[in-house]
Amino acid sequence: MKKIIITIDGYSSCGKSTLAKQLAKQLGYVYIDSGAMYRAITLYFIQNRVDWADTKAVKAALKNVTLEFNPNPVTGQSEMYLNGENVEHFIREMIVAEKVSEVAAVKEVREFAVAQQQQMGNKKGLVMDGRDIGTVVFPQAELKIFMTAEPAIRVERRFKELYAKNKHVTIEEVKENLELRDYIDANREISPLRKAEDAIILDNSQLSMGDQLELVMQWVEDAIMAH
Ligand code: DC
Repeated sequence: MKKIIITIDGYSSCGKSTLAKQLAKQLGYVYIDSGAMYRAITLYFIQNRVDWADTKAVKAALKNVTLEFNPNPVTGQSEMYLNGENVEHFIREMIVAEKVSEVAAVKEVREFAVAQQQQMGNKKGLVMDGRDIGTVVFPQAELKIFMTAEPAIRVERRFKELYAKNKHVTIEEVKENLELRDYIDANREISPLRKAEDAIILDNSQLSMGDQLELVMQWVEDAIMAH
């Protein structure tokens, strides 16, 4: 069957990556979490005290950043490697979440990440999630999905996820962080989060994973037929 590129964009904690992973598994496609790349760059900047307001420092630092996705030997799920080290766990920490929207708004950082993301699409058979995948990275993608969910539901989902790993996290803290990230992601100058004109909206507030998959698999079939 013909292989296509599927983009999934939307606000933080809408369930984009959960759906993208399931979809990629069902289709036998590669899944790329573009947010993980911005998170890994942010981790590098924090660890190496790089001032992301300083263009020269950012350009120099990015020369020392190598990003790769490698499958976990047990689960088979792709994990983020920064300069050869598995950072999948660290990039999900609050310290990274608090800074990643600022770093992802830097022009040089976006150019660096987008160029690598576009290369990953050369072979098709790809599901990529993020904020600008349907608008900037793959404007020619055959199927574009824009995911939304009610804000209270997103906060609850994110809280549960973080609380499972760290019992000190509070719901207020998670709510504030989500609101701030939504604001920065949607209002930044370069590639702000917005729906591509030809993207299909998926509001999953009241949908189970099974419902979502069924719906999207139909869209995939339609997209393959149409192209
Ligand atoms: O999807 P996520 O929450 O892991 O993304 C982390 C941050 O990276 C998010 O605040 C916005 C940014 N991001 C982006 O600007 N563009 C993308 N394609 C993906 C993520």
